[in-house]
Amino acid sequence: MQKLRIVHYLKTFATQQKWKRRIKLVDFILSSFLSGNVKINPANFALYFSILRGEKTANKELFKDFFSLKAMENIQISRISAQSPEYAELWRLRDEVLRKPIGLSLANDDLSRDLVDTIFIARHQANVIGCVLLHPLEAGVAQLRAMAVYPEWQGKGIGRLLVMAFEKYAFEDGYSKIILHARKVALGFYSGLGYTAYGDEFREVGIPHFMMEKELKG
Ligand SMILES: CC(C)(COP(=O)(O)OP(=O)(O)OC[C@H]1O[C@@H](n2cnc3c(N)ncnc32)[C@H](O)[C@@H]1OP(=O)(O)O)[C@@H](O)C(=O)NCCC(=O)NCCS
Repeated sequence: MQKLRIVHYLKTFATQQKWKRRIKLVDFILSSFLSGNVKINPANFALYFSILRGEKTANKELFKDFFSLKAMENIQISRISAQSPEYAELWRLRDEVLRKPIGLSLANDDLSRDLVDTIFIARHQANVIGCVLLHPLEAGVAQLRAMAVYPEWQGKGIGRLLVMAFEKYAFEDGYSKIILHARKVALGFYSGLGYTAYGDEFREVGIPHFMMEKELKG
């Protein structure tokens, strides 16, 4: 309700002030805020207004989340396969984010499952910056695997966008349950998205993991 009041207030304000050329930006900020895809600090609304009015400010730090919002405008989530031209970039991303930090190389992995997987990538302009793979396991059950976002893009809602696209596609494709092997350090990320841990801790690629699952309800 509070959010709706803010929306109404901002939209009316924008129109009254004849800032029509800026309404698109206001809409973007609000839809990001409402969808929860991008972190917006409501305390900074005054700042957004001052930016929209074109006022200058000396404090560049205050612009940080505004600029990350502008960057999010250019994030695209798409579905590819192992035969797609982006696959080489996806390989580098997985190697950099999921293997090198733990002293391994993707070159030593058996990647045969990639051939049957549905691959979701996040792109910023021409660059692949995040990914997640859907592996069919059994009737109605899919595995979410190889979830990775480049460090400089982490914490901006891209992982969440990828999982949302993954789950939408999985549900529409007839899957009712997702399971995954979650690195212990990423448990909080998945539990925030509705996944529940089960079973005992186990080691994979030399680091602690837990099984997690989620029933898809559409
Ligand atoms: C885990 C990972 C994919 C998350 O992607 P991301 O784009 O950084 O995540 P988002 O910005 O969409 O985060 C969504 C929410 O999860 C939280 N979150 C993200 N990573 C988290 C973590 N490791 N632990 C706890 N919470 C986490 C965010 O703070 C955010 O919370 P909010 O809803 O309160 O704002 C990314 O950090 C990554 O690539 N990590 C290294 C590789 C890895 O561990 N992959 C998982 C293998 S199982």
